[in-house]
Amino acid sequence: MVTSNSQIAETRSIGGRMAAVKDMAGYLRSLFEVEREFVRTASTLIYRVGDIDLKYLLCQHIWESAGHARFLSERGRELSGFGKSESVRKEYCDIFEEAIRGADSMQVLAGFYQVLKPALLSAYRHYLAETHHLADWPSSKLVEEFILDEERHAAEVAPFLESVVSAEWQDHLSTCLSALGGWINETPVEALPTDFVWLGSDQAYSHSETCNRGDFPVCSSVFGADPDGDPIVREWLDDPETDARVIRIMIYVWLMMELDAVDYLATVFYDTKEAPFEMHFDLARHLWDESRHSQFGYRQLPKLGVDLSTLEHSLDLYNILVQMLPHERYAMMTMEFEAGSFPTKAKVMDRVRELNDFEADTLLAFDRNDEQAHVRYGHRWLPQIMSLFGETRPVGEFVEATRARFAELTKVFGGKTPHSLTPGERLTGRKILKLAKASS
Ligand SMILES: [Fe+2]
Ligand SMILES: [Fe+2]
Repeated sequence: MVTSNSQIAETRSIGGRMAAVKDMAGYLRSLFEVEREFVRTASTLIYRVGDIDLKYLLCQHIWESAGHARFLSERGRELSGFGKSESVRKEYCDIFEEAIRGADSMQVLAGFYQVLKPALLSAYRHYLAETHHLADWPSSKLVEEFILDEERHAAEVAPFLESVVSAEWQDHLSTCLSALGGWINETPVEALPTDFVWLGSDQAYSHSETCNRGDFPVCSSVFGADPDGDPIVREWLDDPETDARVIRIMIYVWLMMELDAVDYLATVFYDTKEAPFEMHFDLARHLWDESRHSQFGYRQLPKLGVDLSTLEHSLDLYNILVQMLPHERYAMMTMEFEAGSFPTKAKVMDRVRELNDFEADTLLAFDRNDEQAHVRYGHRWLPQIMSLFGETRPVGEFVEATRARFAELTKVFGGKTPHSLTPGERLTGRKILKLAKASS
């Protein structure tokens, strides 16, 4: 292993006593910006891909990338030359903006995972080869960890890309990267061809009108009052006479449907480019939490006899919220849906405890704990997102107005997704009752 930075010393342009530190801080700065911009832009993949396991995986990778960015900035700030701002240079933004404009979601996935992230991995390897391992031990340890993460990310996404043909798109992105000389100037610079066309410069990006759920059946909402049509029957959830085993299946359906929160929260990163990094870090955590909550249902329901191909996914919240402004989306999520969910979930938890199902109790307890954190995030970040968009009303007044606007938009954009399945085919309250009786 190379243990000195002699190679860069030969080409070092910054003179002075701190030159070695400044060089490495410059690399860390670049790597921070790349990770940060990956979080902001790759999050647009989440609502576009239909494979549920891939959605969950992307949430995890985005969370881990946010972690890399945070460690890089913490370490970078210890070094002279890292800089105080958190913004991403235009040259990097241009490449990531380009990357989200692939022809379809799988092309975009291939661009990120077969061009941009491999280049990041090679930049990390380059950093490790260049730096002095004793002098710069704190950075080296981090970078060693990140290399392992990047290798794992590539391996985890590879199965989803097996049948994707994207050579042309990958070449397009590779050309952009080569013109930069790689993320940290570690490859030869090759000028852009004179006829190169940046898609990002003339196509505005906008979020999908609806979220992709792949082969799963869909509907407008899973909540309702009809045991023969809806899976979560509100009245049953509140009724102390309802069998606790029914409540358990219904709460798992509810949790699995938090996938809508995954999809609509994923839209907020891209729209808040000027946000402090710490806000994106908390949003990434929030996103990953919701993907885990959804997985609670996704993993547990089949064990209780539910055939997931009969469970329709509710699209209303995404479809309505995507019509709203980013701070309105975030306000509805944290100040309305999450803040308002505690009383019902508390009752549900009490009922489920009757079953002595340790795993269910554990999942619900962690869900509750995470949700409390999400409401705290809301209190912290909503005022900041509001100010990014020039919203000057007091928070309470803004939230009140947003609730009213949501109600109006629901009339226009809600209830528009027809059931994929007939009442006889789909999971309903009545069928949950039958499954519950058969479970222990
Ligand atoms: Fe949740
Ligand atoms: Fe939440």
